[in-house]
Amino acid sequence: MASYKTLEFDVLVIGAGGAGLRAAIEASAAGAKVGVVSKSLLGKAHTVMAEGGVAASIGNVDDRDNWRVHFSDTMRGGQYLNNPRMAEIHAKEAPARVLELEAWGALFDRTKDGRILQRNFGGHKFPRLAHVGDRTGLEMIRTLQDHAIHKQIDFHMECTVVTLLKHDGRVTGAFGYYREHGQFVVIRANAIVLATGGIGKSFSITSNSWEYTADGHALAYRAGADLMDMEFVQFHPTGMVWPPSVRGILVTEGVRGEGGVLRNSQGKRFMFDDIPDLYKNQTAKDEEEGWRYVTGDKDANRPPELLTRDHVARCINREVKEGRGSPHGGVYLDIAWIKEKIPNAQEHIKKKLPSMYHQFKELAGVDITTEAMEVGPTCHYVMGGVRVDAETQMSTVPGLFAAGECAAGLHGANRLGGNSLSDLLVFGKRAGEHAAAFALGQTGPFPDANAQVADAAAWAEEPFARDQNGDNPFRVQHDLQAMMHAKVGIVRIDSEMREALDDLKSLGERSLAAPVSGNRDFNPGWHTAMDMRNMLTVAEAVTLAAVERQESRGAHFRDDFPAKDPEAAKFNIVLRQGSDGAMQVVRTPVVARTDEQDAVIKEMG
Ligand code: FUM
Repeated sequence: MASYKTLEFDVLVIGAGGAGLRAAIEASAAGAKVGVVSKSLLGKAHTVMAEGGVAASIGNVDDRDNWRVHFSDTMRGGQYLNNPRMAEIHAKEAPARVLELEAWGALFDRTKDGRILQRNFGGHKFPRLAHVGDRTGLEMIRTLQDHAIHKQIDFHMECTVVTLLKHDGRVTGAFGYYREHGQFVVIRANAIVLATGGIGKSFSITSNSWEYTADGHALAYRAGADLMDMEFVQFHPTGMVWPPSVRGILVTEGVRGEGGVLRNSQGKRFMFDDIPDLYKNQTAKDEEEGWRYVTGDKDANRPPELLTRDHVARCINREVKEGRGSPHGGVYLDIAWIKEKIPNAQEHIKKKLPSMYHQFKELAGVDITTEAMEVGPTCHYVMGGVRVDAETQMSTVPGLFAAGECAAGLHGANRLGGNSLSDLLVFGKRAGEHAAAFALGQTGPFPDANAQVADAAAWAEEPFARDQNGDNPFRVQHDLQAMMHAKVGIVRIDSEMREALDDLKSLGERSLAAPVSGNRDFNPGWHTAMDMRNMLTVAEAVTLAAVERQESRGAHFRDDFPAKDPEAAKFNIVLRQGSDGAMQVVRTPVVARTDEQDAVIKEMG
């Protein structure tokens, strides 16, 4: 068998984005020996793609805000499929986590009197997003990294985990490889925190970069954990659409938070055409009221561009499909128009949205201070993930924890913008704390894992032995992405999803036959051949759950079941591996709300 390196920790964190770093900091502070492996370079994480801000009801801009409003907004945004305890913990603890980050050196934009500035975002009743221009995620990663680096945490970059090791039902470590030279590594640990982010690379247009191949979701699934809510895949309404090389790159919701409006090719603000009942009493009746809201009038309602992402994405989709789109298949997002309302608008835009200004100027040759942007939906986030305990973030597998995007529960059927960053702070901390407690409670040497390690190494080396005439792994990956985008994308229908399930079978066969040439030294073809297993697993989970949910709710829209079904509001969909190895679909009752939680929701109208 190939040689391997061995590492030992109390807690292993897989993933070094915001959730992973926050978990590692907390586990280390609790006295655990902590290792972090990151598939990519430290600091390169999807966390930076949450640009417009971190949601926390600090109430600096509108003192009517508090945890109760944030809780209620999050539940409504998630269409009441959220785990209410997670939504409550999140709303209560987010302000402390943001202030803690500030104490660690994060430099947020300020109000005139020197407090953290907060901006409007879709689905949030009050200006709630603490931000750093449009680089909030980046500032958070910088701060967490600076903090973590002083905590004696052992970082292993460009290291991919392919299998979790188990003994007596609990996790005992992981097997992986270093991308640079292909060396195998066995990492023994009594607790593991999965913080691997999302699944965007299973779709063809996405804000996710190459790392997001659903690794944590699939590792947990194969280790016996439950996945939940996988039908809910979020398409952020505004990604770049042109030129083709940058299609999918995020255009922050902060643009709309600062007054940006959406128009079709006829110049019409089409978002006024269709306001969901759930938001009728919270949406501006005309353009004037929308602008008053943006500029801080507390009596005004938000413009329809700040409705939830699922709804805005579908409206854009409709405009394009019905022939009112922009030349490259999007619609127009216009922030330049605010020059009609404020002096020095150009400087204002550059100050508030510096990254967007540079992104469009350099990548598309568009000056957003004078011209509209072309934008369209991009796969951005998955609400579904590993089913975890609300207090501890432990999965159904002892010792296996999950936090951030790869965990399910907080967001329900749809996530509000900015709740991802507060999620990873709140639940990253909790996961780290409880993983440390679990690991430090274990005694004795690590159990023997030789057979599991030998199997994992043999699996990893097998693609080199395949018939060299098979498909290229990148071709199979491309075909999977195109298929999922077309058949299990923004608008779904039973017949197409059943076709998708057949397609997944043949893609699975092609993937298993796709050969890899050369050796294990930096070999992206080999890496992709291995990533395919995860992408296929999760694509199947998304599709099976989407077939099972015969209604439209949040990010899951069925053309054949366009309405919400009150009966379907009673269950979450869980996917787990059956004893025959097949994926099982199980309806699980939604966690019941307490009387107090119900009272809060009622009070908020
Ligand atoms: O639009 C954005 O800045 C993204 C934020 C988020 O996904 O939370």
